[in-house]
Amino acid sequence: MSGIRSVARGTGSYLPERVLSNAELASRMDTSDDWIVQRTGIRQRHIAAEGEFTSHLAIKAAQRALDASGLTAADIDLIILGTATPDQTFPATSVTVQAELGITRGAAFDVQAVCSGFVFALATADAYLKTGAFKRALVIGAETFSRILDWEDRGTCVLFGDGAGALVLEGVDAATAGDSGLLTSHLRSDGRHRAKLYVDGGPSTTGTAGHLRMEGKEVFKHAVGMITDVIEDAFAATGESAASIDWFVPHQANRRIIDASALKLGIAPEKVVTTVDLHGNTSAASIPLALDVAVRDGRITKGDLVLLEAMGGGFTWGSALIRW
Ligand code: ACO
Repeated sequence: MSGIRSVARGTGSYLPERVLSNAELASRMDTSDDWIVQRTGIRQRHIAAEGEFTSHLAIKAAQRALDASGLTAADIDLIILGTATPDQTFPATSVTVQAELGITRGAAFDVQAVCSGFVFALATADAYLKTGAFKRALVIGAETFSRILDWEDRGTCVLFGDGAGALVLEGVDAATAGDSGLLTSHLRSDGRHRAKLYVDGGPSTTGTAGHLRMEGKEVFKHAVGMITDVIEDAFAATGESAASIDWFVPHQANRRIIDASALKLGIAPEKVVTTVDLHGNTSAASIPLALDVAVRDGRITKGDLVLLEAMGGGFTWGSALIRW
């Protein structure tokens, strides 16, 4: 292995201005604040304005992450953006982010692992930084799921929201990095589950963007086992444990999945960062959004051991451990 470690330099996030509360949803369809809160923990979500695209959210989050890291766009030579709701079928949304930030060198590409998109993007950036091929990466999760929801389907449309989060990662010589940096990441997919959570359209099938479809109970049934397995892999690879982590920043799909996963792993509730109540499920954006909240409110500080996990359509799932 090379002597390079990927060190977190700064986080940023952006949420569209428009807030859609459970009460407003209940005024439009047969649902209630009680039902949504009890089943999911979600109280509100943000919805992108007309003409506000995934790239717009991503650019704002990326700029805030750059500002927080003390770096400028000119320092970045790699952009990896996790999204399942790109502006267009192509080009990749990341190249729009790249151009709008004024970056003309290096590479930019999107990864598609739905709700696991940020963890997949992070692991990919880490692998590239470790080769020395790139020096500083913007790792972004950005989504406008409101555009692919069936607003007539109360079983799915109440669950999701729009937003973006970003992390600046720098490849640093291990001798300088000390013990900080990404310690391990573990990615998994199993396409046999692909029909449990999918979009019923696409360029090669219907020629339309399609709408999200989900067998909610099936997703729930698999989620906790898959999440905890891949976290156990991260613990086994590093010798860390539920007791040694400082913060657990899970994908924010559903309060019940988060709580059940933390309980099964023995992670204390006060170590769990939760934003699903205010953001809903923002898919690939949920982890970097939650990270940014916990960094900015002073919970995550230098030296902390931060555990990330995600699970989503495919199914895809993964974990990462970062020494901040
Ligand atoms: N408001 C009121 N009632 C509703 C709503 C709603 N928004 N949606 C469904 N219902 C009704 C159903 O019609 C059903 O009524 P019925 O008994 O008369 O038929 C009843 O509530 C129970 O429906 P279920 O689908 O069985 O509800 P369940 O308890 O399974 O909860 C939920 C649904 C919340 C989606 C749950 O299955 C879940 O959390 N699944 C995980 C899905 C998830 O988090 N996906 C995110 C994407 S994947 C990821 O990011 C990990």
